[in-house]
Amino acid sequence: MEQYVIKGGIPLVGEVGIAGAKNAALPIISAAIMSDEMVTLENLPDVNDINVLIESIEKIGAHVERPDRHTVRINGSTIQSCAVDYESIKKIRASYYLLGALLGKYQEAEVPLPGGCNIGSRPIDQHLKGFRAIGAEVNISHGTIIARAKKMHGAHIFMDVVSVGATINIMMAASRAEGRTIIENAAKEPHVVDAANFLNSMGADIKGAGTDVIRINGVPKFHGCVYSIVPDMIEAGTYMFAAAATKGDVIVKNVIPKHLEAITAKLIEIGCEVEEGDDSVRVVASKRLMRTHVKTMPYPGYPTDMQPQIAAVLSLAQGTSIVTESIFENRFKYVDELTRMGANIKVEGNTAIIDGVPQLTGARVSSPDLRAGAALVIAGLAAEGFTVVDDIVYIQRGYEDFEGKLSNLGAEIRRVSTEDEIRKFELSVG
Ligand code: EPZ
Repeated sequence: MEQYVIKGGIPLVGEVGIAGAKNAALPIISAAIMSDEMVTLENLPDVNDINVLIESIEKIGAHVERPDRHTVRINGSTIQSCAVDYESIKKIRASYYLLGALLGKYQEAEVPLPGGCNIGSRPIDQHLKGFRAIGAEVNISHGTIIARAKKMHGAHIFMDVVSVGATINIMMAASRAEGRTIIENAAKEPHVVDAANFLNSMGADIKGAGTDVIRINGVPKFHGCVYSIVPDMIEAGTYMFAAAATKGDVIVKNVIPKHLEAITAKLIEIGCEVEEGDDSVRVVASKRLMRTHVKTMPYPGYPTDMQPQIAAVLSLAQGTSIVTESIFENRFKYVDELTRMGANIKVEGNTAIIDGVPQLTGARVSSPDLRAGAALVIAGLAAEGFTVVDDIVYIQRGYEDFEGKLSNLGAEIRRVSTEDEIRKFELSVG
């Protein structure tokens, strides 16, 4: 099992380039199989979740070429099966996007119930409600969702909760149904907009993505296209908070600053300087940070995927901060680990009350999920002494070359897999 070993206390300084967004690339790769012509996707993040999804579309027969680690060419004309294999897909939540894609294209899909990060119960009732509304019959049998339609038609769908996955999934399937579909109370995240832009590049007719009403006119077929994935706002935000925690000075490049506004606002509130460029943001933290309150909300609110990272920073800020998680019920599993590093955090229901401490100390901690793992790395970078983060397989699901990018910013971090390597690292950096 791989781990990160970190020597903390070094301010991060320099520039870091941000990859394409994992949570946009996952639906876009799935949607690409809906065309029978070649689709080229650029700015793809080279992370585990993406690679698992690419393998599983290959297994159902899609033609896949990977000319380089950030580009994939997909042609869905060779697909032979609408049944996705459990072994290949069980690890990732985004397997559900293959339901919308296959159903839209072939009116038939069999996809095992999704896995993914354990951050709450994560129902998919809204996805299924949408598929049923546009004419599919959906059943769950032996752990697999089976959706079939004789003919799919437009429908007026009101989402009971704001769901990124359900909005995109319904958008995909409905873009090939006959007639007009309206999704009300849709998610507005940048990756919803990116997925809609991609579908439109293949010939779909989708309007309103990025607002809470999306209108889709079904089209009979898609064509090929070349499309570049939007930058990852969560990866960007993670480096912005790593700069803040280490009292650093970091320019985060290849971003869309507008997508980062909720994150930027919090950094300014806690005492950082943030300078926005056209496609970059610079974060400078020169003094001890101050407390704040934060509540996770659907976009444009503060993202749940940035909740553990801000909590790691606030554990070092002056005063008492309150962090409320309103999207997923099980997203405080990193708190016990941060406590082992000296943080003073109490969780009550969906709220964490954080009394800032002047210093964290390195410890052996375990990454409970993707973003929580990133937060523990941030804490380790700021802490005095050595931190070992176990179970980094979660982090590798969503951060491309995390240790390489942090090392370029001056961090002392290494990916290791034995106690011997940990000792060697500790000796080498003193
Ligand atoms: C996506 O998950 C992301 N995953 C998550 O990122 C992210 O945390 C989340 O959106 C919120 O932004 C991917 O894109 C693969 P939702 P998703 O449907 O689509 C409830 C990461 O770290 N809900 O927007 O599964 C649900 O329980 C991951 O990169 C229903 O009740 O999230 C939650 O409370 C973790 N019924 C809320 O809606 C449904 O049918 C929002 O979930 C669907 C969702």
